Amino acid sequence: MKILLLGGGGREHAFARKFQKSPFCEQLFIAPGNAGTAQCGTNVALNPNDFPSLKTFVLEQDIEMVVVGPEEPLVRGIFDFFGTDEELEHVPVIGPSREGAQLEGSKAFAKAFMAEQQIPTADYQEFTQETVADGLDFLDKTNLPIVLKADGLAAGKGVLILTDREAAKKEFRAMLDGKFGEAGARVVVESFLDGIEFSVFVLTDGRDYKILPVAKDYKRIGEGDTGLNTGGMGAVSPVRFVDEKMMEKVEKRVIIPTIKGLQQRDIIYQGFIFIGLISVGGEPFVIEYNCRMGDPETEVVFPRLKNDLTELMVATANGTLNEITIEEDSRAATTIMLVSGGYPEGYEKGKVIHHLDNVKDSTIFHAGTRIENDQILTNGGRVLAITSFGDNFEEALTISKKNAKEINFEGKYFRGDIGMDLMG
Ligand code: AMP
Ligand code: GLY
Repeated sequence: MKILLLGGGGREHAFARKFQKSPFCEQLFIAPGNAGTAQCGTNVALNPNDFPSLKTFVLEQDIEMVVVGPEEPLVRGIFDFFGTDEELEHVPVIGPSREGAQLEGSKAFAKAFMAEQQIPTADYQEFTQETVADGLDFLDKTNLPIVLKADGLAAGKGVLILTDREAAKKEFRAMLDGKFGEAGARVVVESFLDGIEFSVFVLTDGRDYKILPVAKDYKRIGEGDTGLNTGGMGAVSPVRFVDEKMMEKVEKRVIIPTIKGLQQRDIIYQGFIFIGLISVGGEPFVIEYNCRMGDPETEVVFPRLKNDLTELMVATANGTLNEITIEEDSRAATTIMLVSGGYPEGYEKGKVIHHLDNVKDSTIFHAGTRIENDQILTNGGRVLAITSFGDNFEEALTISKKNAKEINFEGKYFRGDIGMDLMG
């Protein structure tokens, strides 16, 4: 099978490695890819959001399946673009329809969906420019801290948690005044949930679903979960406190009603659902949905997934996921992100990465890298994810840390405490 994978981060390198190992994937193209994916297939300089150019490429190369890594093409409707084009309709796209992608693309949509299906989540209200006054009244009555969410996609920056009421009001106005552009034209205000977060990944073909290994990511830049939020500084899988009892609750209260809700609304969904959850006193609540896999969670979830990825994707497209049994590696995996100095604020690119060949016992997933004159250069804030296995995550962390110290580039930074809060 000839597959086109869209995206170019650590998540996509993890997808590409799985496809590379699959005997059913004869040829893999990655658009745009990075220096890591170039070792698994052929990178093509195409923008995943440029659907007409993707169409030309898919037809020229006789691509047989498109697998979408990031959310943006899905929210923009790539599934529908292919499905409604006579020349493309035979090519399955792995990912939800535009409507299904609203689970991530619109916080207000997701909240209304959860309310309808009685899926546990924080209480909320939504406001627009027309209802600013009501919103400000509501903020007067909401307990602190206050959670403000821009409705639309805001590159991971659209959620603000404020401990000061006046500051919350100011931010609320700024959001409605266009701080996040169109994404903030509608703002969700929700109550703060105090607990510990984890990530559950579900693959659905629209009828059935399969639960993939559970993970936890570490979003803050600093050790001990301090400082600014990032795209993710590392992840572990499995997650010690997410036991069978917790997963039973998640499946019954969240996963089953989610799949049922999509079916009830006739929403076509053949792809991944990433459910961001928080355990509050042992009870799971949904923080958010994403319509794709997580990054860096994929860098620990896929290494622990023993199934052939092409087979999984084909079953998703064909509606035969019920014939598949998910097999997990019993070992623990930990990944550490090496990031550029300054990230998540300003940082420089184009630094030469040294000693990649010295890495032992870890898998390196490239995130922001590129090749120039046979050298691998940094090309983003998150540069490399270093994934290792161990009998437990601490063992895996030790190996990843050793390699994180070995690899070098100017300004390199990483967190050495990934998973450590789960000790004890
Ligand atoms: P999101 O972009 O929805 O993933 O939100 C970013 C982060 O904000 C989440 O990973 C949580 O850490 C935090 N967050 C979002 N909503 C809430 C909430 N209702 N209560 C507490 N933390 C939240
Ligand atoms: N790791 C969080 C995300 O992918 O959104």
